[in-house]
Amino acid sequence: MNLDLAGKCAIVGGASQGIGYGIAHLLASEGARVAITARRERDLRTAAEKMAAETGAEILPVQADCRLAADCDRVVKTVGDAFGRIDILVNNDGAPPLGDLSSFDDAAWQKAMEQNFMYVARMCRGVLPIMQERGGSILNITAISAIQPIPRFGLSVASWGAVIGYAKTLALEVARFSINVNTICPGYVDTQRLEKVFSTGDKPARQMRSELEREVPLGRIGSVSDIASLVALLVSPRGSYITGTVIPVDGGLFRAVR
Ligand SMILES: NC(=O)c1ccc[n+]([C@@H]2O[C@H](COP(=O)([O-])OP(=O)(O)OC[C@H]3O[C@@H](n4cnc5c(N)ncnc54)[C@H](OP(=O)(O)O)[C@@H]3O)[C@@H](O)[C@H]2O)c1
Repeated sequence: MNLDLAGKCAIVGGASQGIGYGIAHLLASEGARVAITARRERDLRTAAEKMAAETGAEILPVQADCRLAADCDRVVKTVGDAFGRIDILVNNDGAPPLGDLSSFDDAAWQKAMEQNFMYVARMCRGVLPIMQERGGSILNITAISAIQPIPRFGLSVASWGAVIGYAKTLALEVARFSINVNTICPGYVDTQRLEKVFSTGDKPARQMRSELEREVPLGRIGSVSDIASLVALLVSPRGSYITGTVIPVDGGLFRAVR
């Protein structure tokens, strides 16, 4: 299926590695011009060069910390000026630290809200005036824990809960501009983040991996392309009738009758 992404202009957050990199790479392979962001500039530039060489697409690296309002504004302005349009916004980044809810002070909560929620609100507010001209697509990456809470993931669960409420409301408000807004909740995905979890756990990494695999009904850890494939569909014209949804991509981890 041709996704009709050629000529579209996208911003993908947290895209120097991991899920963001995989999404940006797939959109670029499908013919989109893609701006990618991350904090560490050297890694971001290396990722942009690799992606451009492998896809032949125009890749624009914009260094930014998504927790900072000024950086969010600068990303939108830089990309708007460079591309002249923004058709696709993928909100993705890192995640707040783990810990029991009772252990977090106000500063930790504020940091988590800046990273997970205010980032999304600021980026959407920034791109909407540009996106409204032609229609477009907004996609948030959260996690399965946002809809099926996990102890010690509370900072993310609570702040991504806000993202889901925001996205569902925004979907209603911008539908008249032909903009769709969706949220994906990945389960376990093979990235450096997951490797870090394995290497800092209290059991050998190999054992932790096989325990997680047994937990997943489909019997494997997800790949970055498992996530990117759905994102590419949802942000393409082929997915334009899908909006306001919250979709787990988790090998069957999410258990509920909704
Ligand atoms: N991997 C999983 O199993 C999994 C499962 C469910 C949900 N998720 C969620 O999916 C998202 C991506 O995860 P991942 O596994 O791809 O992580 P990752 O491999 O650690 O990659 C994170 C990317 O985001 C960038 N980033 C982190 N903090 C940022 C900030 N404050 N501002 C701008 N960029 C930032 C990183 O670059 P810099 O460090 O240079 O900024 C990097 O490019 C996270 O929110 C994660 O919680 C992951």
